[in-house]
Amino acid sequence: MTRVLSVASECVPLIKTGGLADVVGALPGALAVHGVDMRVLVPGYRQVIAKLPTQEAVAEFDDLFGGAARVLKAPLGAQVLYVLEAPHLFDRDGGPYMDPQGNDWRDNPERFAALSSVAAMIGADGIEDWHPQILHCHDWQAGFAPLYLRELGAAGRVSTLMTIHNIAFQGMASASRIGALGLPRTGFHQRGYEFWDSVSALKAGLVYADKLSTVSPTYASELMTKDFGMGLDGVLRERQEDMVGILNGIDETLWTPPYKTIAEKAKHKAALRKELGLPADWPGPLCVVISRLTEQKGLDILMQALPALLDRGGQLALLGAGNPGLEEAFQRKAQKHPGVAVRIGYDEDLAHRMMAGGDAILVPSRFEPCGLTQMYGLRYGTLPLVALTGGLADTVINASPAGLAAGCATGLQFHPVSAQALAQAMMRLITLYQDKETWTRMMTNAMASPVSWTHSAAKYAALYESMVKAKQP
Ligand code: ADP
Ligand code: GLC
Repeated sequence: MTRVLSVASECVPLIKTGGLADVVGALPGALAVHGVDMRVLVPGYRQVIAKLPTQEAVAEFDDLFGGAARVLKAPLGAQVLYVLEAPHLFDRDGGPYMDPQGNDWRDNPERFAALSSVAAMIGADGIEDWHPQILHCHDWQAGFAPLYLRELGAAGRVSTLMTIHNIAFQGMASASRIGALGLPRTGFHQRGYEFWDSVSALKAGLVYADKLSTVSPTYASELMTKDFGMGLDGVLRERQEDMVGILNGIDETLWTPPYKTIAEKAKHKAALRKELGLPADWPGPLCVVISRLTEQKGLDILMQALPALLDRGGQLALLGAGNPGLEEAFQRKAQKHPGVAVRIGYDEDLAHRMMAGGDAILVPSRFEPCGLTQMYGLRYGTLPLVALTGGLADTVINASPAGLAAGCATGLQFHPVSAQALAQAMMRLITLYQDKETWTRMMTNAMASPVSWTHSAAKYAALYESMVKAKQP
């Protein structure tokens, strides 16, 4: 058994703001069949502690970044979960990263440095006689772990993998906090964790981890370009030999359509239209969006391109939350246009009903490291219309003339990410939707797409194995 501690700020079913939680929650189960013993370490936010069925303290700290803390062990199905209980850092109202007013917690650098530092201590000393061979660090929140592990003198025995789920979040902190974060001053330079005169937790991970990965092969190469690297492309180019793109999968125990045949989908569409108050007799496709409303997701472009769908009898149902300007713009659109339904908020059950009831799912992202909703769409026969970028490029087979002629298309892709190109893609979507035979074929192809964790779990397992070997004396 390869022993891996997965370190992350979110994990389904305890705490989720996006796809990171889905991935962290699914990996241990997907990897168990490959002989990997993966345990997850997450922060004990108030809402996490409240959900723990049972708990037992397995480690204690008198002073962890300003207060007492414990590691709680909690069973999660067949898995073992470690929760960092540190009330002074995590027992608060609000979300994992922001206060109830939507501002970042001012002590975010310390909060996640604490998580990373406990991960490193577990790496160095083990916990309950369990000694991980690998720390798998997800995003900037776990970025300092490889550096702390070095400081503890354990980096020669324990290997580290830093996975980028989204390079837009870099864990920046003022250099005045170097002492408070317990970082070695000797690392504060361009080839260390310094970034634009500040400290970057993500850069620390990218510099000090043994191996790097991201969540799709296309994003792995995009990240090394100026357009996508967000200032870290140079660091990544230097480490390209250590970098790999491994596509996410989806947890099919959580995301399986409530129907076996395409014909059965119609009743879910009817139910969804009814629930959302959308007219039942419009001829065009019902398109859904389930998304964080941020710049990344390109929904401002969708707003501009929407007439191309609505004027041709198509409908839009959007579930999302985030940018207040976008929330308002979509709500206004829904008030004015009978073909548009908008629900602002976070609703896991509605997300499932929308996936089941929609004809197509729209993902017009400016960048998308992997993207999960297009994969849920494939599984549900809800055809993805996506921007040609990142994981969206790697998971969808475009209904291009070649894709259609070969009979393997599973969705549509457009490029560049502009209102014009999206409008054209939506017109193509409508034409395809009207061609019942082709549409049905595409649905069948989509539902048979290999979106489970099977392939990618094997890739992670092989990567871990090679990392363990590399540390053997
Ligand atoms: P990202 O992680 O960038 O947000 P992904 O596509 O990888 O994008 O994952 C998003 C996840 O969050 C999916 O599981 C999706 O269903 C879910 N999601 C996003 N917004 C909402 C929402 N408003 N309500 C329910 N689920 C949502
Ligand atoms: C990030 C990315 C998304 C990816 C998810 C899980 O939030 O934005 O594309 O699917 O992480 O890896």
